[in-house]
Amino acid sequence: MDNVVFHVADVHKSFAGLHALSDIDLSVTEGETHAIIGPNGAGKSTLLNVCIGRLKPDSGSVVFDGNTLTGKKPHEINQLGVVRVFQTPEIFPDLTLLENVMVPCLAKRDGSFKLNWFKSFRGEKSIRDHAVETLVDVGLESQVGSHASNLSRGDKRRLELAMGLAQKPKLLLLDEPTAGMARHDTNATIDLLKRIKATGMTKVIIEHDMHVVFSLADRISVLAGGRIIAQGTPDEVKGNPKVVEAYLGEEQV
Ligand SMILES: Nc1ncnc2c1ncn2[C@@H]1O[C@H](COP(=O)(O)OP(=O)(O)O)[C@@H](O)[C@H]1O
Ligand SMILES: [Mg+2]
Repeated sequence: MDNVVFHVADVHKSFAGLHALSDIDLSVTEGETHAIIGPNGAGKSTLLNVCIGRLKPDSGSVVFDGNTLTGKKPHEINQLGVVRVFQTPEIFPDLTLLENVMVPCLAKRDGSFKLNWFKSFRGEKSIRDHAVETLVDVGLESQVGSHASNLSRGDKRRLELAMGLAQKPKLLLLDEPTAGMARHDTNATIDLLKRIKATGMTKVIIEHDMHVVFSLADRISVLAGGRIIAQGTPDEVKGNPKVVEAYLGEEQV
């Protein structure tokens, strides 16, 4: 395959005898939007955690842009341009939206976050401007000065997306970006992700919502029981009987 920038090779991960991931092989080309789908407990979040260094695989490797990520710490992987947006919003409830988005920007620039927050929040005009622009991009411009604790669940997810995007990722890993959103917010997020896609950013999206997956993905990998049971374009995956079977009792593919 041409221009593979992200490669997961032969990854295995067990938790006390439970094979959460077996024989995982995944290649993502530059600029591709690759979706990982699968029923609950399939191993999707575990795979993402292995990719970003939160979990160590029992064997196998993860390579991005020529760098082996396996064995690196999450912040080292982040410094290489790999950004993950978490399934459970990890935001700072007592800070404003603007400050929340400035935190990862300052952390990225300074390597670690050992700053006088309030001095930095006031003084860093270029970072401030960039944070405001990113909040406008995700549609939160009217709440820039509000405390994050006041946001609805859907808006918290949007804030988190802004915190990821503000870091100008080379590879964006999204864990269920529309979970907890009403249909209207989901559609707004799909539009936003389409705009991001047009910039050529490489993305891996874990998603349960088939509408989101089929609107965005160039290619799909289907996980079930810790194994990849199908891989291909949305059309190829849609009609695959193994996929339909894996989803039986869950939802229609
Ligand atoms: N830290 C952990 N310790 C033990 N078991 C875990 C841990 N994380 C996940 N699992 C198990 O691994 C399997 C895959 O989980 P997960 O990756 O969260 O699935 P998904 O994100 O696809 O719903 C599940 O059976 C889950 O219970
Ligand atoms: Mg999960």
